Amino acid sequence: MMILSPAELSSSEAERLRAFERQGHDALAKSYHAFFAAVTALATDPLFDDVHLHRGTRLLDVASGPGALTAEAANRGARSVGVDLSPRMIELAQRLYPTIEYREADVEHLPFPDHTFDAVVCAFGLGHFPRPELAVAECVRTLSPGGRIAFSWWGDPSRQRIQGIFRDAIAEIGVSAPLDVPQGHNVFRYSNSGEFLQLLDGAGLTEVKVTEHAATYFVPDTETLWRGGLGSLVLTGAVIRKQDQATQGLIRTAFERCASVYKSADGLNLPIAFKIGSGQRPT
Ligand SMILES: C[S@@+](CC[C@H](N)C(=O)[O-])C[C@H]1O[C@@H](n2cnc3c(N)ncnc32)[C@H](O)[C@@H]1O
Repeated sequence: MMILSPAELSSSEAERLRAFERQGHDALAKSYHAFFAAVTALATDPLFDDVHLHRGTRLLDVASGPGALTAEAANRGARSVGVDLSPRMIELAQRLYPTIEYREADVEHLPFPDHTFDAVVCAFGLGHFPRPELAVAECVRTLSPGGRIAFSWWGDPSRQRIQGIFRDAIAEIGVSAPLDVPQGHNVFRYSNSGEFLQLLDGAGLTEVKVTEHAATYFVPDTETLWRGGLGSLVLTGAVIRKQDQATQGLIRTAFERCASVYKSADGLNLPIAFKIGSGQRPT
């Protein structure tokens, strides 16, 4: 398996990405919840399986977004808490699930003592973190010895077609990311299982594995997908919104063509692919 070279961001690029992520998710919190939370929920059961969730598990949900996974863990009897960088995501989660605890925090500075949790999960946060190695190390710090950790991340865009259709359309028109959108960060680094395994091994975890998951997600029409994608995908949405009207029109036309491959009589059946990397903190 090919191992890609690590893409380290400088500290100023890392801070730029962090600020971009905070502002981007603040701006999109409601539209993300309306469209994308149902897609990311596809990873809930396998994440819970990999951390052996049971009644009484002390669980941390990192990058909790609108908070559904934290709340679902509590429904299943866990003692769960969610953290996210975006204040608007935290506000939304608190409004949606008022009995659950959510806190604003950066993954690199989790507001919990060592060994607080039996399990840590992170659904689709990894590719948003500027320094994934530090992020994973900080998550592991909060785990009890023997505790389990699981991260979901997207498959390659050729198999993960919600992001893939947008990216193909942008590539077809040939626009590059505007300079005020963070550069040099490989969002799909952990779509590579070798990179994912190396990240978890490097954090000193045992029983490390990466599993592949696939599903089909139904969207009624291309307008729903276009609006939903622009309202959920922080980086891709920013690249499109920053183009002039004519270029946005060209991207939309290319998007319609790329999406048409998935059309059925009722709507669009979109292939979804994600991976879950998991491991255990040594006892
Ligand atoms: C794609 S969303 C995933 C949300 C949720 N876990 C889900 O599965 O729908 C990524 C989330 O990561 C959060 N995030 C980005 N950078 C972060 C950081 N450095 N620390 C904590 N959360 C971060 C964003 O605010 C956003 O809510």
